Amino acid sequence: MDAATAIYPGSFDPITNGHLDILNRAREVFPRVVVAVANDPGKAVLFPAETRLGLVRCVLKEIGADDVEAVGFDGLLAEFARTIGARALIRGLRAVTDFEYELQMALANRRLDPDLETVFLMAEARHCFLSSSLIKEVARYGGDVSPFVPRCVADALRDAFRSSGC
Ligand code: COA
Repeated sequence: MDAATAIYPGSFDPITNGHLDILNRAREVFPRVVVAVANDPGKAVLFPAETRLGLVRCVLKEIGADDVEAVGFDGLLAEFARTIGARALIRGLRAVTDFEYELQMALANRRLDPDLETVFLMAEARHCFLSSSLIKEVARYGGDVSPFVPRCVADALRDAFRSSGC
């Protein structure tokens, strides 16, 4: 187990500037941060797992974050965190509304692995309203998502909704 390694998990469907804000804050604190993309996040997704992971990698390249690894995972997060030697689990908080869900997850993960500490980082105020669902909705209706997501994600959203004809 490595106190220097933090895991930043999520469905990332897709990754947004809000996630990047949290990731960059985590990079300031932890020498090693691994972004873990859930293959089966337990919710309906727009992008398949491989695409979501590919977009995270594309974004990391776009911002020059060579120090960050991105991996996909199946099954329990706490178990996966153990396999990569992570001691800290990063979650972002945007508003009070995030708290109940996050508390539930943090307590469950603590039960599953008492050595895995959930660390909450506060989102930048200008990103507090962002969510992947909101951005997908804007993209679905042809709105400009470029203020909310990195370029490769904006391109992928445009392609996804163009090809689905929605
Ligand atoms: N900026 C912008 N948006 C943010 C954000 C931020 N800082 N932080 C969270 N969000 C949004 C996401 O876009 C997403 O929005 P959406 O619901 O519209 O898609 C939502 O908040 C939460 O997404 P995310 O942070 O990706 O988490 P998640 O809830 O989708 O992922 C897992 C949860 C994958 C970490 C969790 O389900 C998991 O651990 N799964 C593995 C199985 C397991 O171990 N289960 C037991 C867990 S106790």
